[in-house]
Amino acid sequence: MSEQSELWNGPSGRAWVELQELLDGLFAPIERLLADAVAAAAPATLLDVGCGTGATTLAYARRLGDGAACTGTDLSRPMLALARERAAREGLAVEFVEADAQRHAFPPRRYELFVSRFGVMFFDDPVAAFANLHAAAADGAGLRMVVWRGPQDNPFMTAAERAVAPLLPQTELRRAGGPGQFAFADREHVTQILSSGGWREVELTPTDVVCTLPETDLVRYMTQLGPVGHALRQLDPAQHPQIIATARAAFEPFVDGDEVRFTAGCWTLTATA
Ligand SMILES: C[S@@+](CC[C@H](N)C(=O)[O-])C[C@H]1O[C@@H](n2cnc3c(N)ncnc32)[C@H](O)[C@@H]1O
Repeated sequence: MSEQSELWNGPSGRAWVELQELLDGLFAPIERLLADAVAAAAPATLLDVGCGTGATTLAYARRLGDGAACTGTDLSRPMLALARERAAREGLAVEFVEADAQRHAFPPRRYELFVSRFGVMFFDDPVAAFANLHAAAADGAGLRMVVWRGPQDNPFMTAAERAVAPLLPQTELRRAGGPGQFAFADREHVTQILSSGGWREVELTPTDVVCTLPETDLVRYMTQLGPVGHALRQLDPAQHPQIIATARAAFEPFVDGDEVRFTAGCWTLTATA
């Protein structure tokens, strides 16, 4: 099993399942943005890549109705189990496929639109992944995905790790390069990946989205997710109070009364098969 598969079937997947409501609330503005674009494109078939617990796939199915076949795909079993449960609860006929997007044999030339919210930055071999998706693209299929720009455009996302780094000099909190949240930060690199995977008309448009969460959810968020959440799972519990207090203080600039607010610095990535 690859390191990413282990993470998403292990601690990262568990955290995303546990915090599903919080995360869906936090990233709802990005779900809306994608769902509006999906409704405008009105595809008959779509594939939501790295769909996780299914919020976006379900949103597309609601917007497109019976006329469209919406499929979500992910390699995380626990996240897909929750996605399927949510679809059943709502009575939505959405298909969820457990697969590694880099190598799964999707039906050839099947999908008219490929979408993703933060689901495509975790590939060991991104060119293979986008080439594999291309093989599943119908003639003239579209692609519209939201990915993170760099850490410099996302001070909220790196606040905790920057604050606690001096307390954990032996810990590599975030590995530079390789798969991960910021792997699609560089415009030229991403253009190269998609072009090498066979996609045309590749464009990256800066997209800044204001996201919010209740202040009461902030500690849960920062202790379970990201590099600090990961570090806490490895550390002696005796160290936790100092790490948590230091990280929490670093978020103060983003707190406004009972709300936490920040701008997510993203790219909207579009292309044609
Ligand atoms: C940051 S989460 C985003 C989940 C979801 N799109 C959302 O917005 O709620 C990244 C997702 O990508 C999935 N993922 C990572 N590597 C993958 C791969 N090789 N194939 C398919 N999914 C993958 C993870 O399991 C995880 O669900």
